[in-house]
Amino acid sequence: MNIILIGPPGAGKGTQAKRLVTGRGMVQLSTGDMLREAKDSGTVMGSRVAGIMARGELVTDEIVIGLISEKLDSLDGAGAIFDGFPRTLAQADALERLMADRGTPIDHVIEMRVDDEALVGRITGRFSCANCGEVYHDKTRPTRVDGVCDACGSTDFLRRSDDTEDALRTRLMAYYKQTSPLLGYYYAKDRLAVLDGMGAVDDVSGAIAHVLDA
Ligand code: AP5
Repeated sequence: MNIILIGPPGAGKGTQAKRLVTGRGMVQLSTGDMLREAKDSGTVMGSRVAGIMARGELVTDEIVIGLISEKLDSLDGAGAIFDGFPRTLAQADALERLMADRGTPIDHVIEMRVDDEALVGRITGRFSCANCGEVYHDKTRPTRVDGVCDACGSTDFLRRSDDTEDALRTRLMAYYKQTSPLLGYYYAKDRLAVLDGMGAVDDVSGAIAHVLDA
C-alpha cells in the first residue's frame, strides 16, 4: 500500500509516518529529510537549497522529483509513505507517472487538518534526536529522562533552523498557495481522506489506521 500524508507544517506528518514505519513496515519518504541530509553533507545541491529552506520557501520541482524518483528505485516492494511530497500540482503529476510506470499506484491520500494557531506552538516547541530522528516537543512530548532520547539513549538533540515564527509564516503561505490545491486534485481522483489532526497522537494514529484498514 502506498499513501501520501498531506498537511501544513507541524500537522504531525513525520510523527505519524514514523509510527507507520514501526507498526506496518512501510518506508517513509520525506523530501524534507532528504533535503536536510543533502544540506548537512555539503553537496552542491544541498548548498543551493539551504537558503530557500531556511526562509521556508519551496525548492524547485525538478530537485524534489529527482530525489523521490531515486528513492522509489530502492523500495523493494515495501509500501511507501510520502511525507511532504507532493507539494505542487507538477509534483503530483510527476508522482502519478512514476507510480504508474512501476505499477504501484497511490492508494490513499490522507489530509491532516490542524488549526493554524496550534501549528505555531507545535513548530516552535519541536526538537528531535540527532542520532535516530525521534521527534519531541518541549511541552507535549518531552523526553522521559531529561536530555536523553527515549528511543536510542542519545544525548544529542537538534532544532530545525526553519522552526521560527517568521519562517513558519512563509511555510504556511507556501502550503496554502501551492500545496492546498492538491486536496481538490486528490478529491477528484476519489482518493482523499480527511482527518482531525488536532487530537492526541494516539487518536490520530487510530484515525489513520481506520482509513488504511477500511
Ligand atoms: P518538511 O521537512 O517537509 O517540513 P513541513 O512540511 O513544514 O512539515 P514538518 O516536518 O515541519 O511538520 P510535520 O507535519 O512532519 O510535523 P511533526 O510530526 O514533526 O519541509 C521542510 C522544507 O523543505 C520546506 O519548507 C521546503 O523548503 C523543503 N521541501 C520539503 N519537501 C519539499 C517539496 N516536496 N517541494 C519543495 N520543497 C520541499 O510534528 C511537529 C511537532 O508537533 C512535534 O514536536 C510533534 O511532537 C508535535 N505533534 C505531532 N503530532 C501531534 C499531535 N497530534 N498533538 C500534539 N503535538 C503533536
